[in-house]
Amino acid sequence: MWDREQPLRPNMDFAEIFAPGSNSFRQEDWEILSQFWHPLAFSHEIRGDPVSEKLLDMNLVIYRTSHGITVARDLSLYKGTRISSGKMDNDYLICPFHGLRYAYQGYCMDRPAFSLITFESKEHCGIVWTRLKRNREYPLPNWAFLDSDQYIPVFIPSEIWKASASRHVENFNDVAHFPFVHASTFGGEEGDPFPIYQVRNEPFGLSFELPYTEVGNRFPDGRPDLKDRQVVYRYQLTFPFSTCLEVDVQGSDFLHVILDTVCPRSARESKIFQILTDNSGELNAELWLDDAVAINSEDRPLVEAQTPEDVPLDLREEVHIPADRFSLEYRRAMSNKFGLGAPISS
Ligand SMILES: [Fe+2]
Repeated sequence: MWDREQPLRPNMDFAEIFAPGSNSFRQEDWEILSQFWHPLAFSHEIRGDPVSEKLLDMNLVIYRTSHGITVARDLSLYKGTRISSGKMDNDYLICPFHGLRYAYQGYCMDRPAFSLITFESKEHCGIVWTRLKRNREYPLPNWAFLDSDQYIPVFIPSEIWKASASRHVENFNDVAHFPFVHASTFGGEEGDPFPIYQVRNEPFGLSFELPYTEVGNRFPDGRPDLKDRQVVYRYQLTFPFSTCLEVDVQGSDFLHVILDTVCPRSARESKIFQILTDNSGELNAELWLDDAVAINSEDRPLVEAQTPEDVPLDLREEVHIPADRFSLEYRRAMSNKFGLGAPISS
């Protein structure tokens, strides 16, 4: 019988996990990031056989039994093989090497001493989240839109970008690039000035809003007569890497919502999860899927080409303009609130 409700070793030390040099993060940053909840996969992707993912340079296996989701280190304690290449059989994950059976929460039915190292996990907003440590109680993003039948979700196929999670977050929350990078999709006129906006500190995040004029009309809200659209963008960041962007379309009561969160697979590689929705109650999934794919394909090569790859937390290292207020506040918060990128203590 499986009887494990708690992770076997939820507070492993960094030194227990990585051989020297096998981790791409600064050790101090890894310790801090390991305490946040991070997205690993869409819930609907964890159905049949186990799925392999990576978080903070650690290989993980995710599998579903009738008792729920299990997230474990992708490592058999017997002979050290990766078990994500195994199969599910009657509620058990079968190790591909010697056929050991693993139940919910990694319990090894055949040799309990070989039970998997498991981590806490939750399913929230259609996403599987996990945290490697539980020293602190950091919240998940509160995306209440998805509780309403009116807001039908479209899950955009996730992509792995060769960029740090912070670089993606800064780009997603940046407005200054719209006229240049997104000229083919929704970007406005190059000469339009950006209003000075204020970034507000929230209990566990940052928020700001600003008006914008999109060239073209991508909104199915019964106003095909309008060639450009006045919108108000409302951004709500939840630390460290999750953003809700509401696009409040003027001229109708249409509200378009983009939910974006990032799994830091390594210091230079991120998995992007996006859920799109609107308040129409009869969402056009194909429309928003095509929109997201087009916009992301415009952003991705530029974000992947940014140097340095890590977001510099020393604010003097990059030149900023007024439209960069979010980046400035984000970097300040990541450093001051959590200690990310802080000088290494001797
Ligand atoms: Fe963009």
